[in-house]
Amino acid sequence: MKPLSAVMPARSFSLALTLTLGLSATSTIAMADTVSLPINTLPSRISLPNVSPANSALANRGAYVARTADCMACHREDYSGGVPIETPIGNIYSTNITPSTRYGIGSYTEANFKKALRKGRAPNHQIYPAMPYPSYHGMTDEDISALFAYFQTVPIVDKPPEKTTRLPFPLNIRSLMLAWNVINVPSTENRSGLTQTQQRGEYLVNNLEHCGTCHTPRNLTQGLDKDRYLSGAPLGKWFAPNITPDNDTGIGLWSEMDIVTYLRTGMLDKRAYAGGPMAEAVAHSTRYLTDEDLIAMASFLKVVPAIKTDDYLIPVNVARLPQPVSNSITYNLLEQKDYLAKAKANTSHVTISQNSSKNSRMENSNSSKSLYLAHCASCHGVDGYAQPDARYASIVGLSSIRRAKPDALIGVIAFGAKGAFNTAPKMPGFSKDLSHAQIASITNYVRVTFGGLPSSNVSAADVTRVIKEKS
Ligand code: HEC
Ligand code: HEC
Ligand code: HEC
Repeated sequence: MKPLSAVMPARSFSLALTLTLGLSATSTIAMADTVSLPINTLPSRISLPNVSPANSALANRGAYVARTADCMACHREDYSGGVPIETPIGNIYSTNITPSTRYGIGSYTEANFKKALRKGRAPNHQIYPAMPYPSYHGMTDEDISALFAYFQTVPIVDKPPEKTTRLPFPLNIRSLMLAWNVINVPSTENRSGLTQTQQRGEYLVNNLEHCGTCHTPRNLTQGLDKDRYLSGAPLGKWFAPNITPDNDTGIGLWSEMDIVTYLRTGMLDKRAYAGGPMAEAVAHSTRYLTDEDLIAMASFLKVVPAIKTDDYLIPVNVARLPQPVSNSITYNLLEQKDYLAKAKANTSHVTISQNSSKNSRMENSNSSKSLYLAHCASCHGVDGYAQPDARYASIVGLSSIRRAKPDALIGVIAFGAKGAFNTAPKMPGFSKDLSHAQIASITNYVRVTFGGLPSSNVSAADVTRVIKEKS
């Protein structure tokens, strides 16, 4: 039997993004020590979308706290709930947290609210840790008060969530979480010797943004493994990479500005793209944060202990990356169509050989290119840079295609991608349409051609293993 506490908040990947753009509010967070980045070059922030309807200072501050704590990613932008959080014991659905007295938290006192956030204790039941209370445990009294004031002003949704949690006995015995809490709450410890900016960053990363719930491996009871904090963890069909400052396997080579840009926009040219669960964190939360707060997180991430894992990141060799065929949006579609038709004709009579004689290796690379052109190039471009206007992701140089372990890339090709902030049609999964050998062949082509890797030898067996593991 799986441990009762095996609750892993791998978020569902189907959250609606309905943003109501509202007044812009200024942050009330004062940073005492100096900030090391040139503010005027930061990508600009989307104006704060959810100022409290009451527009009082306290409730507006609470609206910002709700953004930093990413409540909407799980409870929906209108807080009506019903979003499935995938866990090893089954789906746990978020609840309605609007001030409806019947279906929401309208009858909560501030003390009830505080207990729910810090201890996972609702007035009448214990909450499953799919709600990240082990991280919220460290929330300040001031932030909880502001958040509570804000939630009083949120429009009431007077209906139950579309779906609610139904776990079989004995998993439905909520009080068993009490024992789990003793071991796993709080999920992080504060470090000493940090600057004031880094302390703010620590609070944001550890407590409000709960970055560790996805990026930290789990211990035997499925709590966060503090010794491997932020060093990367599987997440359903995805993998949340190592974000400690290790140069070879983490983000040690990223500057603070790189981190800020990624959290603000969900992408970093020729380096990284948030196309999966990370897109939700960006879409619902980090892109709205103040410059000061993003800088604080970046400067904290630079000083967390660096952890080396076995998931090596092969550095970008810029010289090996392709040049864009065209920078302009009027990318020659007709020419491309022609190319694709030829490529499709080619692949229909090509058989992929896993044989390694010199001849068949050449044939292999030809066919892998044809496969890429036929199945991927219509969105990602012949050159991998995609069509910038259509918001298909440029895949050139991405960290996800430069990992020593090809698992994350195989996962994307097999199961597809749809990021929460992307308006382009989603990337389909190819696990049904292509053979495992064909997926392996495309994986190798992408890693070498667009990742700049000297070689890649992913096999059909690797693809079979990854698909089995992630299904
Ligand atoms: C990672 C997903 C996730 C995030 C982020 C999240 N929640 Fe939750 N929350 C849940 C789930 C799932 C439940 C239901 C858990 C259960 O059924 O035991 C829940 C339950 C709750 C409850 C208990 C409601 C009740 O009486 O049943 C409250 C209150 C709550 N959340 C408030 C918040 C607030 C406020 C935020 C932001 C500060 C937040 N949540 C962020 C997933 C999340
Ligand atoms: C819901 C789970 C989830 C949460 C919460 C989350 N991440 Fe991620 N993160 C991921 C996944 C999965 C990826 C891989 C990229 C993707 O999704 O396309 C990723 C990628 C990243 C990357 C790029 C690393 C690389 O090598 O390409 C950085 C940096 C990052 N996350 C930082 C953060 C920070 C900081 C936070 C907290 C503000 C955070 N993440 C919260 C799941 C998450
Ligand atoms: C219909 C268009 C479409 C097709 C066809 C397509 N993709 Fe994608 N792909 C996307 C979109 C869109 C994203 C970004 C996800 C998002 O933001 O919604 C993406 C993301 C990616 C990523 C980045 C994932 C990450 O988070 O790092 C890779 C790598 C990728 N695609 C490779 C491929 C390969 C290889 C093929 C062919 C087997 C392919 N794609 C076919 C649209 C497509």
